[in-house]
Amino acid sequence: MTTDIYTLQQFVTDLRQITSETHDEKALLSKLRPLAKRAALSDDWRSERHYRADADQGFGVNVLHDEPDHSLFVIAVSWLAGRGAPAHDHGTWAVVVGVDGPEKNIFWERTDDHSSPGYAKLRKSGEKVCEVGDVLAFPAGAIHSVINESDRTSLSFHVYGRHLNYSGRSQYDPEKNTELPFILKTQ
Ligand SMILES: [Fe+2]
Repeated sequence: MTTDIYTLQQFVTDLRQITSETHDEKALLSKLRPLAKRAALSDDWRSERHYRADADQGFGVNVLHDEPDHSLFVIAVSWLAGRGAPAHDHGTWAVVVGVDGPEKNIFWERTDDHSSPGYAKLRKSGEKVCEVGDVLAFPAGAIHSVINESDRTSLSFHVYGRHLNYSGRSQYDPEKNTELPFILKTQ
């Protein structure tokens, strides 16, 4: 990790300012990318407890900041070896930074017309292994799945424009063509 001192509190202050004055999502994401990376790689927030994960869920959601109205959400996600998350959207924009270990992201495009509740057809559109210091920025509506193909728990730093349990986001099964709510267990 770096010796750069950029505290989580400083990051949250910058996050509040940028989101209050930047309403174009593309501009917002480009401003947040370097700051999220700087915060993610700072030692300020790091703790062994962020490696705790929920065995049923396959990963751990360690809340670093939840705005009182849930409009900003910063979490450390620990991915158990060989586990991951099903295809999902976030219901808001997202920025993810690799902190410890590789995480394979698979990107999906939705190809149906959204007219049938509970039905969604997806097509794989790409993949990227997110390594330490890599930054992924997702506009609202982007769909990805994640898998930790390494043999130990990995860790990444995530920033969202809304608490994910209040964003109305979905998980998808690309084989069964289903769309379901996706609620996180947090710790
Ligand atoms: Fe995600």
